[in-house]
Amino acid sequence: MNSDEDCAAAGIARRSTGRTRQRPAVIRAARVADAPQIALVHVRSWQCAYRGLLPQVYLDGLDPVQRVGRWERSLAEATDGRDGVLVADAGGTLLGFVAYSPSRDGDADQARVGEIEAIYLLPSAWGNGVGRRLMDVALARLAEARFDQVTLWVLDSNARARRFYEMGGWLADGAQKTEESRGFPMTQVRYKRTLMASGTGPVLSCLRHAA
Ligand SMILES: CC(C)(COP(=O)(O)OP(=O)(O)OC[C@H]1O[C@@H](n2cnc3c(N)ncnc32)[C@H](O)[C@@H]1OP(=O)(O)O)[C@@H](O)C(=O)NCCC(=O)NCCS
Repeated sequence: MNSDEDCAAAGIARRSTGRTRQRPAVIRAARVADAPQIALVHVRSWQCAYRGLLPQVYLDGLDPVQRVGRWERSLAEATDGRDGVLVADAGGTLLGFVAYSPSRDGDADQARVGEIEAIYLLPSAWGNGVGRRLMDVALARLAEARFDQVTLWVLDSNARARRFYEMGGWLADGAQKTEESRGFPMTQVRYKRTLMASGTGPVLSCLRHAA
């Protein structure tokens, strides 16, 4: 499943045929029953996106089944509207998810600064606009929850994701951190963007690229 061919296939299809044809995805709130598919998307996306960037032995050892329980617990927790998980659902197949919350950074005002905690798509869905749609809805939710800024952390060597964020108006704010919790160093950089105050204008502002 995590072979070079599996990871390369989506990119080759996109390059040769332009946007790949897929069932249209609906963006909706995640449910507890989505946990197995979210765990699968998360692991497959890591295995392809971080190939060559993180130790292969670590990527090979990732097991979606071991992550289902954590996702079930997280999705079962009541949300106050300031955090949530959205999925892109194509006829029952989840193509990707985005998780958002108040900022978890020690230097942030949690009343004002939201965070995109994670955004991951199945490799076969990359480059089809699904990530952009997920991001737009998550930013609209954060604006409705009255956050006026939003941040995220991205692996410094994750060029695809950094390009995606920069095209969406995000800017690196100079913050950087290196975590060793997985047994190898992972250096991440922080990106930031502004959200307008909630209301018709701001939500439209966040969604200005959604059409
Ligand atoms: C990063 C990721 C979520 C992006 O989602 P995606 O569906 O592949 O990206 P999209 O198809 O929506 O973006 C397509 C294009 O629109 C651009 N774009 C994205 N948002 C945009 C916006 N708001 N306005 C204008 N352009 C935008 C992108 O840069 C990209 O440009 P390109 O066609 O020239 O390559 C997805 O590729 C992925 O899951 N990658 C692996 C996991 C990962 O790295 N996650 C991030 C961890 S921090």
